Amino acid sequence: MSFWADRVLPTLVEKACRSHAILAERQRWIPRAHGEVLEVGVGSGLNLAFYDPAKVDAVTGLDPSAALLTRAAARVATAPVPVSLLEGVAEQLPFPARAFDSAVITYSLCSVDDPQRALAELRRVLRPGGELIFVEHGLAPDARTRGWQRRLTPVWRRIGGGCRLDRDMRAILRDAGFRSDDLTAGFTEGASWLSYTFEGTARPA
Ligand SMILES: C[S@@+](CC[C@H](N)C(=O)[O-])C[C@H]1O[C@@H](n2cnc3c(N)ncnc32)[C@H](O)[C@@H]1O
Repeated sequence: MSFWADRVLPTLVEKACRSHAILAERQRWIPRAHGEVLEVGVGSGLNLAFYDPAKVDAVTGLDPSAALLTRAAARVATAPVPVSLLEGVAEQLPFPARAFDSAVITYSLCSVDDPQRALAELRRVLRPGGELIFVEHGLAPDARTRGWQRRLTPVWRRIGGGCRLDRDMRAILRDAGFRSDDLTAGFTEGASWLSYTFEGTARPA
């Protein structure tokens, strides 16, 4: 691990993920979660405050970054629901099949190495009728922004903890066998190449 990954990147990630627009997205979607919840890529735990204690039994938060998990641990005491944290990757979830009622992923599908494998794992651990709640940035619809996203991704990936700017989240979810009836996408505040956002819920088709 490097000074960048351990010290600098967690601070930058947390700052970026606390923008007004992103907090509004968290407020919009996280209260949808219910029952036993798995949050993959929990990061510094910025979603934890938004879980609804009337609906959620417990949240399990998983992330590969020990530095970000340390920050998330500081938020566990004030979270409105019981939270346990563990180190791991979305592509290899250490849980039995059908263990969760809801799964949450926000601004992390851009960074996982293998999104199809991660989504296959999320399908596996969701109970029948379970729901995936997602807020993710990705490939914009217009050619000019796409061009910038494709040009910038190789450099951005290296400094941004593996984050790709050019993933088509709608197609990735569909190809993984998830169906969404309420997916919306659009530019939020910020640089256009970073702010084309897909949000909604999805269920195994
Ligand atoms: C931009 S941060 C978002 C953190 C948090 N979800 C949020 O909304 O604030 C991206 C997160 O994805 C995590 N991540 C990267 N690769 C991952 C993987 N293979 N499985 C799960 N999480 C991963 C990173 O450690 C980081 O916490």
